Amino acid sequence: MANVTVIGAQWGDEGKGKIVDWLSERADVVARFQGGHNAGHTLVVGDNVYKLSLLPSGIVRGTLSVIGNGVVLDPWHFRDEVAKLKGQGVMINPGNLQIAETCPLILPFHRDLDGLREDASGAGKIGTTRRGIGPAYEDKVGRRAIRVCDLAHLDDLGPQLDRLTAHHDALRAGFGEAPIDREALMAELRDIAGFILPFVQPVWLTLNKAKAEGKRILFEGAQGTLLDIDHGTYPFVTSSNTVAGTAASGTGLGPSGAGFVLGIVKAYTTRVGSGPFPTEQENNVGQRLGERGHEFGTVTGRKRRCGWFDAVLVRQSVAVSGVTGIALTKLDVLDGFETLKICTGYRIGDQTFDYLPAHAQDQAKAEAIYEDIEGWQDTTAGARSWADLPAQAIKYIRRIEELIGCPVTLVSTSPERDDTILVRDPFAD
Ligand code: IMP
Repeated sequence: MANVTVIGAQWGDEGKGKIVDWLSERADVVARFQGGHNAGHTLVVGDNVYKLSLLPSGIVRGTLSVIGNGVVLDPWHFRDEVAKLKGQGVMINPGNLQIAETCPLILPFHRDLDGLREDASGAGKIGTTRRGIGPAYEDKVGRRAIRVCDLAHLDDLGPQLDRLTAHHDALRAGFGEAPIDREALMAELRDIAGFILPFVQPVWLTLNKAKAEGKRILFEGAQGTLLDIDHGTYPFVTSSNTVAGTAASGTGLGPSGAGFVLGIVKAYTTRVGSGPFPTEQENNVGQRLGERGHEFGTVTGRKRRCGWFDAVLVRQSVAVSGVTGIALTKLDVLDGFETLKICTGYRIGDQTFDYLPAHAQDQAKAEAIYEDIEGWQDTTAGARSWADLPAQAIKYIRRIEELIGCPVTLVSTSPERDDTILVRDPFAD
């Protein structure tokens, strides 16, 4: 079956938007399976730039797009994002966009709690997007969430609201906040329900029918494997499983549906928010990478931290996400460096490691062990074939493949969708 699952193999912001857009032209369905509007996917189509946070990227091209049950949905943000894209001329209607009935809702007090906790955390701050993602997932797992399907049964919400408000009012009291205004919340839910409900479907069924009809499904991951709640740099992670395996549980298609797993990998490394980052360069190199790569967050506008390519972490991501091949992005940002460095291991105290140990203190102490590789002076920007690349750039790519134990499937050399070198078509497998 020719499905493709696209995931970030670093800390997010690897350039998934362009690759998903490029693949979505040939997909019949595009599905989001985790995260929420903490994601920021930028698509450049001709002269138009589209910034998506919650909606699957396929919507820009009119491809059937579905928001799976693994996503946490802020219904007011959904309405705003739909309006913004419609304003840019994108056609959106229940015929091309579906929301799973079982998505938990992000409510206003989730957003409040995210901010209150961050403000109270001192040095333990996670650096979240403050959009309520973590608190909404907590309520899902705590079996207190209000879900999308509840919007059709608001009159029956009483007992559920009792559980939810009992929990949150206790938390809010600890922060000196007033209890939840249940009447105001119900009024807001009644107001938004009419907009959301036409899009609501049993998405698992839509996808299983599509599978039975031999349609091509593209799963669009958000964030990156190193932000995974289990496999990432805990506690400096997001609150969902970002690994490719979640495509199954986050949509209801089953594990055999994931198909070709395409890991998106930036030719260097960036991270937004707090947490360990062994190859971070808080110097001229980091500044140059940030400026050339325009490394500012799509969602929060925060400056991204920048550093050398970390082959150890990407090898780990390739393993835990079961990556079939990688898409290497932003190679042109490395143009003009005399020497490049690639991290091949870590030193922690007097021990060396070829993986990142789990404990946060070890991760914070990990010193990168580098190998140097000669840079290139010509530009790689806009290259569309291997022949357009300087020999040293090809050597850099080959070395990355060796170190991470995974082949390069495509190389992206600018935000333009056609500036791509295709080695192997993921949909053809
Ligand atoms: P949250 O997902 O808002 O709870 O944030 C948790 C961590 O994940 C923070 O370090 C965020 O900066 C990071 N994060 C969340 N979404 C993204 C993303 O789409 N790209 C990069 N980092 C993200």
